[in-house]
Amino acid sequence: MAYQSIEVRKLTPTIGAEIFGVDLAQPLGNQQFQEVHDALMDNLVVFFRDQKMTIDQHKDFGRRFGPLHVHPNAPIAFKDHPEILVIKADEKSKHVAGEEWHSDVSCDVEPPMGSILYLTEVPPNGGDTLFANTYRAYETLSEPIKRMLQGLTALHDSSKAHYYRVKATDRDDIKFPNAEHPVVRTHPVTGRQGLYVNRGFTLRIPQLKRNESDALLEMLYRHLETPEFQCRFKWQANSVAFWDNRCAQHHAMFDYFPNRRYGHRVTVCGDKPFYRPA
Ligand code: SIN
Repeated sequence: MAYQSIEVRKLTPTIGAEIFGVDLAQPLGNQQFQEVHDALMDNLVVFFRDQKMTIDQHKDFGRRFGPLHVHPNAPIAFKDHPEILVIKADEKSKHVAGEEWHSDVSCDVEPPMGSILYLTEVPPNGGDTLFANTYRAYETLSEPIKRMLQGLTALHDSSKAHYYRVKATDRDDIKFPNAEHPVVRTHPVTGRQGLYVNRGFTLRIPQLKRNESDALLEMLYRHLETPEFQCRFKWQANSVAFWDNRCAQHHAMFDYFPNRRYGHRVTVCGDKPFYRPA
């Protein structure tokens, strides 16, 4: 794809690209917006370096792509900005958000389309984020397995991923949503099909017996974790990652304890996952 207003350098042939020539603190013109959007559709996750954004500028960038999502059960760190999810680890942390492969908040009936993470403090080394291409995961399955998956749904539950948040918040609107989604999801923009089950949130496949569901999900998770479907992003302070939750999963490496890592995530609302035969 030819870009006029940005430069796009792929990290791998399969997933991930760095974008140059954009200042995310400034409102994006129509052409830049369209090209950033196209680069996201092409690469599933895009990265920007050396950005300086206020909370409002971060939210404004997110709003170009859709209404902003409020996490159902994370603590609200900024009363006036409930859309800001704080991503933080320090010498007290026993775990971090996103340590398991997942697609953000897939337990929502309408899970977020994308997430925009802006880290302002990073550990001296470690703390990378891994991303995986769920289209490739689906496309590389054998035909009989693809045919079997096409009729199945899966239950996703927030309490699997966020059980530890019960005590971590005093929110009175806290919710632990659950939802049933197709195992194979058609992307609403690209029309491509991808696997939509993840270790973080998926509980089981209700059409199958428990042992069948466990075995099939474990096979799919391992397949999704194939290194060839992945890229790995090395953060610097003031880097931004913007991923498409409809066709990418991610995994936050917690290998830097007791060092500090801090940032804000803005999450863009999405729509109800559906499956449409190719
Ligand atoms: C997340 O949004 O799942 C966290 C990702 C990260 O901290 O790298």
